[in-house]
Amino acid sequence: MNELKIFSDSATYDLFFSSNWDEIRTDIDRCAAVIIDDKVFGLYGEILNIQDKKIIKIKVSEDIKTPQTALDICEEMVLAGVTRDAFIVAIGGGVVQDLVTFAASIYMRGIDWVLYPTTLLSQADSCIGGKSSINFKSWKNILGNFYTPKRIYIQSQFLETLTDDDIRSGIGEILKVFMLSGQESLERLIEQMNCYQNDSRVLESLIFESLKLKNNILEVDALDNGLRLKMNYGHSFGHALEAATHFGIPHGIAVTIGLDVANYFALKQGLIEHHLFDRLHSTLTLNLIDSDFVDFNFNEFIRALEKDKKNKQGFYGLIVPVSQGEVELKFFEMNQINNSMIREYFTKYYSANVE
Ligand SMILES: NC(=O)c1ccc[n+]([C@@H]2O[C@H](COP(=O)([O-])OP(=O)(O)OC[C@H]3O[C@@H](n4cnc5c(N)ncnc54)[C@H](O)[C@@H]3O)[C@@H](O)[C@H]2O)c1
Ligand SMILES: [Zn+2]
Repeated sequence: MNELKIFSDSATYDLFFSSNWDEIRTDIDRCAAVIIDDKVFGLYGEILNIQDKKIIKIKVSEDIKTPQTALDICEEMVLAGVTRDAFIVAIGGGVVQDLVTFAASIYMRGIDWVLYPTTLLSQADSCIGGKSSINFKSWKNILGNFYTPKRIYIQSQFLETLTDDDIRSGIGEILKVFMLSGQESLERLIEQMNCYQNDSRVLESLIFESLKLKNNILEVDALDNGLRLKMNYGHSFGHALEAATHFGIPHGIAVTIGLDVANYFALKQGLIEHHLFDRLHSTLTLNLIDSDFVDFNFNEFIRALEKDKKNKQGFYGLIVPVSQGEVELKFFEMNQINNSMIREYFTKYYSANVE
């Protein structure tokens, strides 16, 4: 079994690549509660052999990623008699991960937990880094903290039941990681983008590479104060698109489009050359299909963009490319000229109505 030592602000912890169901069954036997995506339970409940009294099922959607759901999980843990010395197991994608990170961190001032990510997005990106991101009212990911699991297992068989949209959503985050990790990684990504659909080993190697690249960043900046901010590439525009489409597209697909907008904005600001924009654009387009383009209101998009956590008073804080594989946080005035550049992207490349 492959293994990675994952960096955090304190101790390192282990991530294992697992090829059978033994570890997960053992953890389920020993833990005090299993918090699991309801859909994953329907698909894998029998293989996993979870006893009824231990299960806390979550009916997953973006709008249940709230403080209230995290508190509901805590309530169920109290009712199930989960004690401070026990550990809990989380099985699901990014939504379950965000909720359990938060709930585990506050339950009795912190309880141990083990993570089994089940989507491509969570296996290739979100499972490491220890962040929780919780939505509050209409504000996406506005609440959160850091609370790492004790162990993570990547079981690629979970991916077999994902929809094409969920696979492409995961690819969106993988595109982000490779596109900010130097010149060479972009070349490798372009090769692999054309063959991952037909070869699960290519997908597994993309997951491994993506985690290694993100882990290099965590080693230097586990708490997101500097270098790690680069992982937010594509996310200012991506989050604004999620808000303006009322979460009409999966997160990683919004990030794919968000990366393209960030690159176009950098082109217009004279930060990158046309040929680099074109190369990145044609790679990102491989991850998009017609139905990803959902109508939205541009003013709503700008209002969401203005609320981004990286902004300073009157300035957008954007992660933008400055050369192939290199991105930086730069500040741009919130004004008509800059907003028009963003709008121009949608006029040129976005095949749906932008009012
Ligand atoms: N905390 C972080 O560092 C971080 C990083 C990136 C994204 N996120 C968050 O993650 C969320 C997106 O994560 P996601 O894409 O994993 O979404 P998700 O958890 O909503 O899962 C997507 C869909 O796949 C289903 N599903 C999960 N596993 C499955 C499986 N094995 N087979 C079939 N269906 C399965 C779920 O029920 C859901 O319908 C967003 O809320 C985003 O903000 C958090
Ligand atoms: Zn993301």
